Amino acid sequence: MKFFIDTARLDEIREAKSLGILDGVTTNPSLMAKAGIKGRENMLAHYQAIAREVAPGDVSAEVIATDYEGILREARELATLAPNIVVKIPIIADGLKAIRTLKDEGIRTNCTLIFSPGQALLAAKAGATYVSPFIGRLDDISHDGMSLISDIAVIFANYGFETQILAASIRHPMHIIESAKLGADVVTSPLKPLMALLHHPLTDRGLQKFLEDYRKAVEG
Ligand code: G3P
Repeated sequence: MKFFIDTARLDEIREAKSLGILDGVTTNPSLMAKAGIKGRENMLAHYQAIAREVAPGDVSAEVIATDYEGILREARELATLAPNIVVKIPIIADGLKAIRTLKDEGIRTNCTLIFSPGQALLAAKAGATYVSPFIGRLDDISHDGMSLISDIAVIFANYGFETQILAASIRHPMHIIESAKLGADVVTSPLKPLMALLHHPLTDRGLQKFLEDYRKAVEG
């Protein structure tokens, strides 16, 4: 299972990388804005900085265009930035067409804003490298985000699709655990839920006791 971090902030990317568990990064226009990146040239340079930081891990960079020709134009530009850039494309009709064309050109894609198994099936048929089902946003509107992951996993296994399931819109550590149990290939998480996997009160209490007992034995 791969761990990606869902952020455009270099400090957060470096912190996750320092733990030795980081396989890649996902971004989107909202995360780029949150990281304070303004202007097209700065955005492209920032994608390159992220790509250098996590190479050879994949970095998803999203297109803004919503028409076929525009998506292709942006995707080809993004793909030239670094070999580990994956172009993120929304699941709309022109996006689907573009995913097929880009697959034929050898450009890898991450099909985003997936909220139903049917959307994931279409993206896989078109040849997407990844599909990004948004778990948290479904939970937010009282739908079961995890069941989307399990439905997609069954469908992809039935037909041997190579498209990887990238569980996205992660809100808390149980989203990561449940995605792992269901066999998601990748989870992309903000830093906080990722770090929350590490902590357990019994670990803290147990470590404190070991250290106290060691001190008693050594220092009397
Ligand atoms: O990778 C997609 C993700 O960024 C969406 O997350 O928290 O905005 O629903 P969120």
